[in-house]
Amino acid sequence: MRILAMETSCDETAVAVVEDGTRVLANVIASSKDIFRGKTGVIPEEAARKQVECMLPVLEECLCEALSSKENIDALAVTHGPGLLGSLLVGTTTARTLAALWEKPLIPVHHIFGHLSSVWLGSENDPPLFPAIALTASGGHTDLWFRRSHTKGTLLGSTRDDAAGEAFDKGASILGLPYPGGPAISNAGEEGDPLAFKFPLPLRDDPSLDFSFSGLKTALKYTLRDLPETERPFRLHDLAASYEQAICSHLVDRIERALRRHPDVREIHLVGGVSANRRLRLMLKEFRNQKPALRTPQKIAYCTDNAAMIAGAAYFLWKELGESAAKPFMTEASLPIIWHQG
Ligand code: KG4
Ligand code: ZN
Repeated sequence: MRILAMETSCDETAVAVVEDGTRVLANVIASSKDIFRGKTGVIPEEAARKQVECMLPVLEECLCEALSSKENIDALAVTHGPGLLGSLLVGTTTARTLAALWEKPLIPVHHIFGHLSSVWLGSENDPPLFPAIALTASGGHTDLWFRRSHTKGTLLGSTRDDAAGEAFDKGASILGLPYPGGPAISNAGEEGDPLAFKFPLPLRDDPSLDFSFSGLKTALKYTLRDLPETERPFRLHDLAASYEQAICSHLVDRIERALRRHPDVREIHLVGGVSANRRLRLMLKEFRNQKPALRTPQKIAYCTDNAAMIAGAAYFLWKELGESAAKPFMTEASLPIIWHQG
């Protein structure tokens, strides 16, 4: 089954064609991140205007690269939330129009469900396994899931304040590093000592599996303030490494606790923009000695927002729910994931 998907939930205009949820035929993305570099984040109105300009050229490029057209596309898919409403509407309006024109089913996909499906991309010879503990960590969300199948699962914990990616982005801004903060902090911290500065482990005595990152951000601010001004430039690498270590330690701590409560899981899935983080991957591999196995998306391009994961998710929705996956939908800035129990 060949699915053409569109994803425009934040600042990216992404279109992809994927076969059977795993084989990526084309994954094209136009990002306006450069426009927002030097600012503290995305400006919604500017992002949506840029997406209106990019949508059709990206769509044409993707169809051309995938050697696809109306004749060999079986269904369309689109992210219908959560995200920036103006941006989402660019994708859903284009997808609705094309689906009507081509007379194809249109499958609405929750953005997080797309991230959860990203570990299937390129996995045709070694598909991921259920049950799995999955961490979705990006700029707008940080959630921990227990998954029995593509459509069955439960939410174990969520962030109570900032998302993990947001903690990177805000931390970078405090340190005078560019947006997006994740790669910027990671690069700055490469030569630093991750144990040079001690940051508290959030929610250490809290029995839930929730996350909290705002205290770390405040701790970073005060640590920087208390350093003599002349010393600050020389401590940047250590500060970045230690702050990155603190964010990753919190994520690993919650996963470890979840695994103790669900000893039957076969894999840990790490997805979303923050899953690109090298230190986090290393820490997770070390602490479990790869049992249960750690799965990350096969390419960095599948960690951050992309349309291939939306096409993949749509395929698995169709496979498990049948034609009802192509249901009528609204475009929504905030949208809960609905799991099918059973
Ligand atoms: O999934 P994504 O592209 O968009 C959202 O759905 O939010 O994630 C973007 C977030 C940003 O906050 C960015 O700083 C973070 O992912 N990120 C990283 C890395 N690459 C991107 N965080 C840590 N380490 C990275 N290498
Ligand atoms: Zn995302």
